[in-house]
Amino acid sequence: MKAQCSNCNTIQDIPKEYAGRNIKCLSCKTCFIAQRFVPPPPVPITAPLPEPGSVIMLVLVVLLVSYQSWAGTKGGCKLSGGAMEIRKEQFGKTKDGQTADIYTLTNENGVQMKLTNYGGIVTSLIVPDRKGQMADIVLGYDNLADYIKDSPYFGAIVGRYGNRIAKGRFTLNNVEYKLATNNGNNHLHGGIKGFDKVIWPAQPVRQNDAVGLKLTYLSKDGEEGYPGNLISTVTYLLTNNNELKIDYIAVTDKDTVVNLTHHSYFNLAGQGTCDILGHELMLDADRFTPVDEGLIPAGELKGVKGTPMDFTKSTAIGIRINQDNEQLKYGKGYDHNWVLNSSDGSPAPAARVYEPTSGRVMEVYTTQPGIQFYTGNFLDGSNVGKGGKVYKHRYGFCLETQHFPDSPNHPAFPTTILKQGKTYKHTTIYKFSTK
Ligand code: GLA
Repeated sequence: MKAQCSNCNTIQDIPKEYAGRNIKCLSCKTCFIAQRFVPPPPVPITAPLPEPGSVIMLVLVVLLVSYQSWAGTKGGCKLSGGAMEIRKEQFGKTKDGQTADIYTLTNENGVQMKLTNYGGIVTSLIVPDRKGQMADIVLGYDNLADYIKDSPYFGAIVGRYGNRIAKGRFTLNNVEYKLATNNGNNHLHGGIKGFDKVIWPAQPVRQNDAVGLKLTYLSKDGEEGYPGNLISTVTYLLTNNNELKIDYIAVTDKDTVVNLTHHSYFNLAGQGTCDILGHELMLDADRFTPVDEGLIPAGELKGVKGTPMDFTKSTAIGIRINQDNEQLKYGKGYDHNWVLNSSDGSPAPAARVYEPTSGRVMEVYTTQPGIQFYTGNFLDGSNVGKGGKVYKHRYGFCLETQHFPDSPNHPAFPTTILKQGKTYKHTTIYKFSTK
C-alpha cells in the first residue's frame, strides 16, 4: 500500500501490515503513522508523460530503497516491527534506604511507557497523535524525590482500598476494624502509607505481543488497620496493540476487604499543556452513586438521565462541569463513581475519551463494576511536574476502575470482601488510538 509522510508529504510504498504503525519516512527520516494514502482525483494532464521505461525504473528504485530501509532499520526512532524493549535503571532511594528502579518499556510501534516499582507508578506514557507526533499523556514527576514529597497519587497503584471508607471503619465477621484516616474523618486510597508509597519487588515480563512488569507486594496483617496478610500482584503490560493492560491478583490469609485501582492523570493533548475540559467523554453507565459533602455515597444508585452526570453520549467534559448542581459542588467538579452497565466478569467497554486537537482516543475496558471519574479538581498549580510543567486546575483526569466507594459499609453494593483461600482477580485495559 501507499502511505504519505505527515512531515514531508513524500508518498511511499509500504507493506500493508504496517498500516497504523509508526514508521520512518524514507525521505526525511522522521516517524509518522502509516495511513493508506488515497490519491486526490486526477487533474487534466498538461505536461507530456515520462517515458514508460523511466516510470518502471522509478518504481523499482522506490521499492529497493523501501526494502533496504525495512531490512536494516538503523538508528533514529523505533520503527514499526522494531524489537520490543525493557530497560531498567535506578530511580532513587526511599527515606528508609530502599532502592526504587525505573523501567522503560517500548512496544513494536514505538509507544513507550516508563514505570517505577515505587508505588507501581506509571511516570510517562508516550503515544502518537493523528499525525504521528509523539507526546507524553500522563502527569508525573521527573524524579523519585518529588513523588515521595507530594504526589496526589500521580500514576500509582492504589490500595488496599481505592477510594473512601467512611470514618475509616467497617465491620467484618462481627469485628470492627479501625483504619488510618487521611481525608478528614475518612480513609482514602489505602490510608497514610498506601500501596502508592511502597516498594513493589518487580520482575520484567516478555510475551509474544507485549512487554511488561510484574509487581508484587505483601501488605502485612494490621497495615493501615486492615486484617490479613495480603499478597497483591499487579502486572502492567504494554501490548503491540497500543494497550496498557493491568492485571490485578490478590490473596489473603484472613478475610479482608480489597479494592485495587490505577490512578494515572491523563491529558491526551500532552501533559502540562492545557486543561482537560475540551476532551470528550463517553461512559457506559446509566447510573452513578451520589455522595455527601465528604464524597461518601449515600447508598443509592441514581439514574444519570437529565443530569450533568450523563455521559452516555460522548460529551465535552467542560460543558456542564460548572453547573449549579449539588453533586458537582460536593465534588468541586466530577469526582464520582459511575455504575458500569456491563460487569459480567470479562473486560467490557467502560469509557471512551477523545481529544479533538490531537485526535488521540483512549478506550477503557474493565472487569470492575464501577469507575471513578475525577477531573483533577484539587490540582491548583502547586505541583510542578515533568519538564517544569505546572499542573493547574483540571490539567488531568483520572478514570479509576474500581468497586464502589465505601462498599464495606454498604452491603447492597457489590462486595469487596476477599475471603481467605479465595483469589481477587481483575483486569483493566487502557487502549490508545487516533481518529
Ligand atoms: C481520587 C479521589 C479524589 C482525590 C484524588 C486524589 O480520585 O476521589 O477526591 O482524592 O483521588 O487527589
